[in-house]
Amino acid sequence: ELEVLRDKALMRSWSRSRRCNGQTIALVPTMGFLHEGHLSLIRTAKSLADLIIVSIYVNPGQFSPSEDLSAYPSDFSGDLRKLSAAGVNAVFCPGELYHSASVNEFGDHQEAINGEREVASCLEDGGSGHETWIRVERLEKGMCGTSRPVFFRGVATVVAKLFNIVEPDVAVFGKKDYQQWRVICRMVRDLDFAVKVIGSNIIRDADGLAMSSRNVHLSPTQREKALSINRSLSKAKLAAEKGQKNCQDLKDLVKQTISEAGGKIDYVEIVEQQGLRPVEEISCPVVVCVAAWFGNVRLIDNLEID
Ligand code: PAJ
Repeated sequence: ELEVLRDKALMRSWSRSRRCNGQTIALVPTMGFLHEGHLSLIRTAKSLADLIIVSIYVNPGQFSPSEDLSAYPSDFSGDLRKLSAAGVNAVFCPGELYHSASVNEFGDHQEAINGEREVASCLEDGGSGHETWIRVERLEKGMCGTSRPVFFRGVATVVAKLFNIVEPDVAVFGKKDYQQWRVICRMVRDLDFAVKVIGSNIIRDADGLAMSSRNVHLSPTQREKALSINRSLSKAKLAAEKGQKNCQDLKDLVKQTISEAGGKIDYVEIVEQQGLRPVEEISCPVVVCVAAWFGNVRLIDNLEID
């Protein structure tokens, strides 16, 4: 039942022929090592379209050289089993998506981003390499964009490529990666992609930890400490609902809860839900976004306050 497609041209013709027959297609982009969070996106997708395509591709364009692309966990046969059981129609797993001479050329080249930071980028040789990048200029900055300056242009670019190859009617993203979801929404709006972008709720383990492929790197004690993230977010939401409107105080509450548990804060921000602009007083729907380190594992999470 599950078709495994590795070739761009085959993927496009698979999708086009079905759309010509009047079937609608939902795409769920992933980097594999699938867990219940990914599977929930598939369930959301099934309620929105006739056919479901899941892509599995660890995108070198969104990793910087200091991040270990080769250490990204994978379990391809496990993934295929889960996708079959979930009733997915096709999995798109290209070996390489960029026109670069070799994957290793990614990350070799230094380029200034934002006029200040020296970061790695893809080969830009004007020859065989890839040189076209999508930048969602304001939304890609701040929060995760501060510590990972090439991340969102890599995400936006690979998602644009996937949209062009698969030509889905709908694409589903997790709200777990809130800024990523909003970056994609804005790209689709600004560039008139004919794709409807849907955000799907965060899936948590029973203890409250947001599911992530990075969780496998946590020791049992680190995992216990990491529960402070969700706890801190719940505390902030409760305080806000009880009338605490001051965002600095709410952020301090979150920071304190995580620091006391032994986590190292990357950022805590309270921003409006659509435009991700920081707010000082809660007077519109906001989302509290957190990134924190536990050992050498960086975790992100967020909670919407409507
Ligand atoms: P990946 O980390 O594999 O995540 C794939 C999708 O699953 C993303 O939309 C992410 O937000 C969602 N997801 C992950 N954990 C979740 C959870 N606990 N609850 C709900 N959704 C969850 O994000 C990426 O891959 C890549 O950046 C990608 C979009 C594929 C581009 O390369």
